[in-house]
Amino acid sequence: MIASIIQLFLVFILSCLTLFYFFSRSNYGYWKKRGVPYDQPKLFFGSLSFLMRTSAWDVFYDLSKKYKCDYFGIFLSWKPALVINSKELAKKVLVKENDSYQDRYISSGAEDDPLGALNLFTIKSPQWMQIRHEITPTLTSMRLKAITEIMNSNATEVVNRIQKDHVDSNKPVDLKNLFSMYTSDTIAYNVFGIRVSSLKELTSPVLAITRYMIRWNFWRGLEFTLFFLLPAVAKFFRMKLLSHTANEYIKKLYHEVVAEREKTGQTGDKDLVSHLLKSNANSKLPAESGSQYAEKLMMAQAGFFILGAMETSSTTMSYILYELAHHPDEQEKLYEELSAALNESGKDVLDYDDLLKVKYLTACIHETLRLHPPVPHLDRMCNKKCQLTDELTIEAGTPVFVNVVSIHYNGDYYPDPEQWRPERFNDSTDTDNHDFTFIPFGDGPRFCIGKRYAMMQIRAVIAQIIKKYRIKPDGPHTWQTDPYSVFLRPKHGGRVKFIPRS
Ligand code: HEM
Repeated sequence: MIASIIQLFLVFILSCLTLFYFFSRSNYGYWKKRGVPYDQPKLFFGSLSFLMRTSAWDVFYDLSKKYKCDYFGIFLSWKPALVINSKELAKKVLVKENDSYQDRYISSGAEDDPLGALNLFTIKSPQWMQIRHEITPTLTSMRLKAITEIMNSNATEVVNRIQKDHVDSNKPVDLKNLFSMYTSDTIAYNVFGIRVSSLKELTSPVLAITRYMIRWNFWRGLEFTLFFLLPAVAKFFRMKLLSHTANEYIKKLYHEVVAEREKTGQTGDKDLVSHLLKSNANSKLPAESGSQYAEKLMMAQAGFFILGAMETSSTTMSYILYELAHHPDEQEKLYEELSAALNESGKDVLDYDDLLKVKYLTACIHETLRLHPPVPHLDRMCNKKCQLTDELTIEAGTPVFVNVVSIHYNGDYYPDPEQWRPERFNDSTDTDNHDFTFIPFGDGPRFCIGKRYAMMQIRAVIAQIIKKYRIKPDGPHTWQTDPYSVFLRPKHGGRVKFIPRS
């Protein structure tokens, strides 16, 4: 009896694999039939055989070296997808023809993974537009000005921790970890209105959430990567975009904050949760059947804001210090400009308006975002047949990826593209996409909602660190990337040395 069950099971598995084999093979002619150059697929994996061995960032970098054409095809296992290298076509997909590319390819199931499916990053149109419209006022200039004070006070804690752990005690620094604490403290205030200091006390409820969300071991990395590249598989296995444990922590913290507000009668400041609660009370959030829908919707925004604010920003901060360490002349220039700005302002710490005026700081951040864009590709799903070029029509249901690395490393736009030269961005402003050659925050209606917040958060901490310390390299001028992470991340967190300025 048991033997025949095993036999039946084996026949079933074999039939599934055979079916999948023929199905994949028939799909692998997709780009050839359309005359599109394509990456030769490997059976079952398609173009994804790198998974968990090489970072997604390195893959997009390698593809940009291999394919110099405007676009080419890849296979996400069995599924054909298009990769775009040219700024003109990127503009077409992200802006001009946005009607056909309103949603991202990444997706999750609202039933099994509401926090993964309903956040602003993954939610589909038309609900996306309503949510975006509701959240945008939480990030106005007025609000950002107020938050900059919190950023500055947390940046002072970063400096204190550097002094204690890495200057006085001479321990090597893990930059990613240090900056994750900094960004976590700030986003805790922005999302939940709570003042915490993981930098002072080394504990914080938000940091606990992210420990589970962005702990990129093999399984967590695989889970997150599948949502980006094979969402159907992630859904099939009922995975969670933000991780199971992080989901539980987010729900717990959300309920605690809401209960506290109900108890004390305080509405909270203008943080994300209090704003969404008000929007919900005024019936401005999308209405769906199910009494807990609005609550899940709010928790989903809180969860993704934490992820969005921490992972990308802490990577950028780490890479800025890394580049400054290897470019002492540029570092000195930045120090001089910061000193001059402080003298002029007469303050100990530069505020929102002062920070915006330090042009070379903006240039250093922009050049770092060009050379090390944390998000290597922008994904869209074609939802309506679209004539992309005279020769190529994109069918509905085709994922389209804009290769940000390829555009940022194009020698026609940036001579010697591998070199870090902040002067390329002299006089650059936060809104300038340099004729679509600079898109680290994406573009079009779905560009990063936290862009200005991120820029200010980076400015605040880099300004204070550079004023206090001379940054020196701690190792060669190459950082390996973490193979388990979809976003750019230095493999071992990243190190530099801090030498106090007298
Ligand atoms: C250096 C820091 C950051 C970088 C490089 C970055 C990059 C990006 C990119 C590339 C996208 C996709 C844009 C597109 O598809 O066109 C995005 C979307 C998003 N980001 Fe950021 N981000 C950063 C910081 C932040 C912060 C601080 C927050 C929250 C406060 C945030 C929240 C979001 C959200 C919610 C979306 C989805 C927007 C939508 O679909 O409407 N990000 N980000």
